[in-house]
Amino acid sequence: MRKPLIAGNWKMNKTIGESVDFVENLRTEIAGVENAEVIVCPPYLAAHEVARRVGGTNIGVAVQDVFWKEQGAYTSQVAPKMALDAGATYAIIGHSETRGRFGKEDMTPAQFAYFAESDETVNAKVHECLAVGLKPIMCCGETIDERKADRTDEVIKAQVENGLKGLTTEQAAGMVIAYEPVWAIGTGEVCDTPEANRVCGMIRGTVASLFGDAAAQSVRIQYGGSVKPDNAAELLSQSDIDGALVGGASLKVADFAAIIKSV
Ligand code: PGA
Repeated sequence: MRKPLIAGNWKMNKTIGESVDFVENLRTEIAGVENAEVIVCPPYLAAHEVARRVGGTNIGVAVQDVFWKEQGAYTSQVAPKMALDAGATYAIIGHSETRGRFGKEDMTPAQFAYFAESDETVNAKVHECLAVGLKPIMCCGETIDERKADRTDEVIKAQVENGLKGLTTEQAAGMVIAYEPVWAIGTGEVCDTPEANRVCGMIRGTVASLFGDAAAQSVRIQYGGSVKPDNAAELLSQSDIDGALVGGASLKVADFAAIIKSV
């Protein structure tokens, strides 16, 4: 049985104080919930304090990105080992927003170039996380143009194959992969449930062809993209959807708790 993982990606929201208030309230709201694993993903600066406050509860902490080196002259970067030291147990890797694949285009090409994540850097980050014991949540997803051109499966398959390159079967089996159609992120436009389940099943099939059936059956595949309290139950009841990566709706305790309780 794969335990559903519900993760709240706060992106660039919440100060340390707001983050602490949130988890203090959430812990009461979801006390006793055992059928889902719950994590929050605060901005780096709040991660340590949040991890301190959720000790002994059913809430875990993830960081929103990491670098692929252990340490060194890499200004502004955070090593997986540092995230672990701060109390995180997971890291989001390869989110479409770090790949520069935003649903809305409100930046210049030069500004977009700042978000330069590639399958190769995603793979390097996955390896460094696993080497130190931080669990990667590796994201993949197609843009609206790729979907319209019937390239969804090809794009997702390539992201998954390249991201998981060089892993052992055991490492692959412990992975979390998040299917996040770029056009559904932050837009309120959720992917149809059968289609979300189909793509998640296709991702599982890709893992099976690379690492075998046992690994594919144990890998957890989340759906992300406009998950809300009113669509969560349907999405989370699907055979190949093992949780949700929630953005906007994870910023309010009541909404995030409702999504968790809909498992
Ligand atoms: P959203 O974001 O729930 O606001 O669409 C999802 C995500 O980016 O992980």
